[in-house]
This record gives sequence, structure tokens and C-alpha cells, in this order.
Amino acid sequence: MKNDIKRILIGKEKIQEKVEELADQINSDYQDGNILLIGILKGSVIFMSDLSRKLDVNAEFEFMDVSSYGNNTFSSGNIRINYDVKYDVGNKDILIVEDIIDTGNTLNKIIEVLQSKNPKSLKIVTLLDKPERREVDIDISYKGFEIPNEFVVGYGLDFAGKYRNLPYIAVLKEEIYKN
Ligand code: IMP
Ligand code: MG
Repeated sequence: MKNDIKRILIGKEKIQEKVEELADQINSDYQDGNILLIGILKGSVIFMSDLSRKLDVNAEFEFMDVSSYGNNTFSSGNIRINYDVKYDVGNKDILIVEDIIDTGNTLNKIIEVLQSKNPKSLKIVTLLDKPERREVDIDISYKGFEIPNEFVVGYGLDFAGKYRNLPYIAVLKEEIYKN
């Protein structure tokens, strides 16, 4: 797996420092509150598990599964909801946990679905942001790193289902993407 990596973009320690920073901001904004974390499967799982353990407010967990990419590195803008929240999210303070915001199409659709359930509030935390590729405006409350327009893997993010368990964010060698 490590032979496929061209370069590490964000190392382990830098990720952990950033997760801590984001948790501090969230803790001070939701003091004594309850949050419903909604993780977007599967990319956000590692980020959500690290972030949630640094929160000192009550955090419930829910997940949504949407598909936009298949095995391709380009977003179709055509998003399908495979798994919706089962729980009643009305009257909850929702925090959507996302791995990366690229075109914004995925999150835009998710926000639409969740808003229709009338939550008390709805905010977004993302570890990564690729602003160059944005097609729809997204109001991001908590943002980890802005990254250039490159396809990245690791810390939850995959290419064709692989590399999610790398502990850092990396760029793969060109030949891997071509296969
Ligand atoms: P968007 O709809 O274009 O914003 O796409 C967002 C989703 O595409 C993310 O939740 C990721 O699952 C996936 N994605 C976007 N960029 C990357 C990347 O560089 N590496 C891995 N997955 C990505
Ligand atoms: Mg995702």
C-alpha cells in the first residue's frame, strides 16, 4: 500500500493538532449542549471517531451514505442516497461531519434532505476543503485544511475503496489512478 504513495500532503501529527483545534471551537460553540453528529459514509468515519473523542459535549451518532464518485475521481453531480438517517432529527443541533468538500454537490444534496426534517440547527465540519473545484456555495462552519486541486487518499479517504486506513493524507502515484 505504501509503495503506491507519491507524497504525504498532511502528516499524522498535523492532522491530530487540527482535529484538536476544531474540537476546541465546537466545544466552545455548543457549551453544555447536545450535538447530533451525522457522518457521511464512509470517508468521514476516521475523522468522526477522532473528533468525537475530543468533544466534551454530548454527541449522538448518525450516518448517511450517499454515492457520487463510483471508482472515478470526478464527481458526477448526480448523487444517490443509499442510507438515510433513521432517527428523528427534528429539534436536534446537527453537525454534519464530512471528510472533504470538493464540488459541493454531495453536501448540497445532504443539506437539502436534512433541512427538510426541520432540525433546530445545522452546521458543517469538514477536515478538507478543495475550494478550486466548488460548483455550489456551501457554508462551512468548521474547516480543517484547504488543499489544492489534487486527488488525495488516507485518513478515511479512498481511491476505488482502498487506502482509507493510511494514518495521513497523501497523493498517489499517477500510474495508480490510470488503472
Ligand atoms: P463533492 O460532491 O464533489 O463535493 O464530493 C465530495 C465527496 O467526494 C467526498 O465526500 C469524498 O467522498 C469524495 N472526494 C472528493 N475529493 C476527493 C479526494 O481528493 N479523495 C477522495 N475522495 C474525494
Ligand atoms: Mg465522502
